[in-house]
Order: sequence, then structure tokens, then C-alpha cells
Amino acid sequence: MSSIVIVGAQWGDEGKGKITNSLATNAKMVVRFQGGNNAGHTVNVNGETLVFHLLPSGISVPGVLCVIGLGVVVDPLGLVEEIDGVRAKGIEVGTNFLIDVGAHMVMPYHRAVEAAEEESRGGSAIGTTRKGIGPAYADRYSREGLPIGMLASFGDFEERLRKIAARKNEILTKLHGAEPLDVDAMVADMRRAAERLVPHLADTPELIRETVASGANVIFEGAQGTLLDISFGTYPFVTSSHTSAAGVAPGTGVPPSMLGEVIGVAKAYITRVGAGPFPTEAIDDLGETIRGRGKERGATTGRPRRCGWLDIVALRYAIGVNGIDRLIITKLDVLDAFETIPVCVGYRIGGGETDRFPRSAEELARVEPLYEEMPGWKADTTAARKHDDLPREAMAYLRRIEELTGVPVAAASVGAAAHAVVQFTEIL
Ligand code: IMP
Repeated sequence: MSSIVIVGAQWGDEGKGKITNSLATNAKMVVRFQGGNNAGHTVNVNGETLVFHLLPSGISVPGVLCVIGLGVVVDPLGLVEEIDGVRAKGIEVGTNFLIDVGAHMVMPYHRAVEAAEEESRGGSAIGTTRKGIGPAYADRYSREGLPIGMLASFGDFEERLRKIAARKNEILTKLHGAEPLDVDAMVADMRRAAERLVPHLADTPELIRETVASGANVIFEGAQGTLLDISFGTYPFVTSSHTSAAGVAPGTGVPPSMLGEVIGVAKAYITRVGAGPFPTEAIDDLGETIRGRGKERGATTGRPRRCGWLDIVALRYAIGVNGIDRLIITKLDVLDAFETIPVCVGYRIGGGETDRFPRSAEELARVEPLYEEMPGWKADTTAARKHDDLPREAMAYLRRIEELTGVPVAAASVGAAAHAVVQFTEIL
């Protein structure tokens, strides 16, 4: 069996899309297991930049079957738009793309309710992507969700949708003082989306299990990052799904015993979008330099990302939560410009020091990072393709990450292009 799980080891945007896309050339299947179109996976295909939100990042690789697993929440209208955009770039989305019937749908009322809730939170808003992800997962758990398989029997779906939408309109109007949504228009939109999506619906868990059991390479592609996990992240400033490797089993129907290596993707520094504690945030010119050099703007919302220094305490926590076997360090080239590079190796809290990642957001907000200064390399690494091409200080930086985490670095990425990678060990 050769399946790997790719997870984000930080607050998302680690560059998982690029890694998945390049590994997909050796894979038979790429499976998304959580999240929705809050994700924005930026991939460079033949010199062109594409952003996938729901489509697995292997979709541009011919011969790879891409699957949206049952743990994902799918906005049918968003997905149709994404498919059209991707096809317009000459990428096939046909029999190479399946959606599990058990994935739940994000409906227009989820987005509307989320917008109203975020507004009412005022200064304590989570800063969500406003894609309706949280309310869609909440409905799934409160047994008021709509599995996408229902689109295949549209009459039953419409009856259920009209009942739920009427209740949601009451919430919108009576609780939030917002405008009600036009349910007839919603039904008509969904009918059009159903025509497009029903051909892709399938019962996929057994198919994925059989593919893994056959020995073919299967990639389980995570979205967001460990520190945004609903259980292990900095709650309540998290997303609403299990972004960590533990999410693969309930999100695909593949049991933990069939999962192989876990690859953690982390940037050479760290970023966060939205609200919540962020100990190593650089709210100075250096942070601005990282943001500019790393083009750190949200791929889904366009918001500027908060930038800061690599946090080893958080990374070790992510390694533990996911059982990360090997790391891939991305965007190493963004650090090419710095004289010295701070690395957070511990936290100061309440007069003491700790290397433990706090379990509460309140506690995390109170810590002060303890830094170790690494010498910078002040050289262009973007053309590096092998170990010897990297400056000594850049290799020392990667080696220090290995020492501090106890986990080997399998590769470092040094640019947006698929080939801009220095690979130390084979991954798939
Ligand atoms: P939601 O996922 O839209 O509910 O947003 C919850 C939190 O997760 C917010 O802080 C978002 O900025 C963050 N978030 C959601 N998706 C991503 C992502 O793909 N990358 C980075 N942050 C994300």
C-alpha cells in the first residue's frame, strides 16, 4: 500500500497545492477529505497560475482520478463556476473527477447566516472566509444538512430544501433583521447545478480503499492547516473541519490502518489569515518584507496575510497531532533577503518558560516567543535544485528545523514553479 497524507502544519497556506500537484504525477488518485471552497490551492501549471478551491490539486494531471470525499462541504454553485474556469484553461474535468454522495452541500443560506453572525460578533469576529463553511458543517451535525447525493433525486431534495430554507429565512429575518432569501431562485439555481454535478456523483469509499489496497499511489490532500483544526486548533479561531491527518478516515471512508506516511507542509516562516493569537507575528517592517516577498494575500479572499517567524513550538505540536513522518519546507526563497532569521524555540509565560503549545487561545495570546537567531544567507536560492546549490546558511536553517523537531526535511521549495524544489529524499 502506498498512500500518503499531505497536511498543513501551520495556519494554512503552506503551499500544499503545489506539493500535491507535483506529487500527483506519480499518483493514481488524489482525494480531498475536508474543508470546502474556503481553501485556495495555488498551483502553477505550464507557467500559468491556477487556484483550486474545491477541485483536488491533481486535477490538471492527466490520468489521475480526483475525488471529493464525504468530509468535504461542497458549494454546488461555486463548484460549477470553478469547473468552468478550469476547463477554460484547457484542463479536463470529466470522468477524472468524482464527488462522494455523502459530501454535504453549502447552500446560499449558510453564507447569509454566516455573514450575519460575523457582523453581530463585532470585534470578536473570527474573520472567516464567509463561504458558509461553518454553518454547513453545523447543519450536518445538527441533522439539517443536505448530502450532495440528494441532487440525483431532485424532487426529494427540493421538498427538503424548501422546508429548511423557510426555517433559515426565519432566522435571517427574525434573529438577524436581514433580508430573506428567494427560495424559488435557490431551487432553480440548484436544478442547474444538479444537471452539471450529478454525472460526477459516486459512492467512493470502497473505490478509494480498493485503489489503496491495489498498491497504487493515493494522495489524501488536506486543506487549511493543523492550527485551524476544529479540535486541535486555536479554538474558536479555527475552521470547522478536521484539517489534521485524523480527518482522513471520517472524511473518505478509508480506515486509519490503510493510511501510509504523513507529510507535513510548513513554510520557512509562518502566516495566518483572520483573527486569533499568533505569537511570532512580525508587526514591523520585517513582517511587511515577508508579506511582499511571499506575496502573502489570501487566495480565496484577497486579504493580506499576517506574517511572522517560524514557530517550532507550534510545528512540534502539529507533528505530534498528525504523526508527521517527514516535512516539506516551502517558500525558503522568501527568506533570501534577511541578514538574520529569528526562529521561535520556546515561549515565555507567567514568569516561566515552556516548549509546550497551549491548548487554549487565551493562553496562547499571553505567551511571548523566545527566539534563536539564525544567520541569513543573503543570496538568491530560486535556481537551487539540489542540496549543493543551496547556501551553507540555508542548509543550516533546514538542518536546525530537523534538529529542533526530530523530523527529517524531505524537500524545500524555492519558488512557485513546480520544478522549483530541492528534493533531499524521494516522497512518492
Ligand atoms: P472559515 O474556514 O471560512 O470558517 O474561516 C475560519 C478561519 O479559518 C478564518 O481565520 C479563516 O481565515 C481561516 N481559513 C479558512 N480557510 C483557510 C485557508 O485555506 N487558508 C488559510 N486560512 C483559512
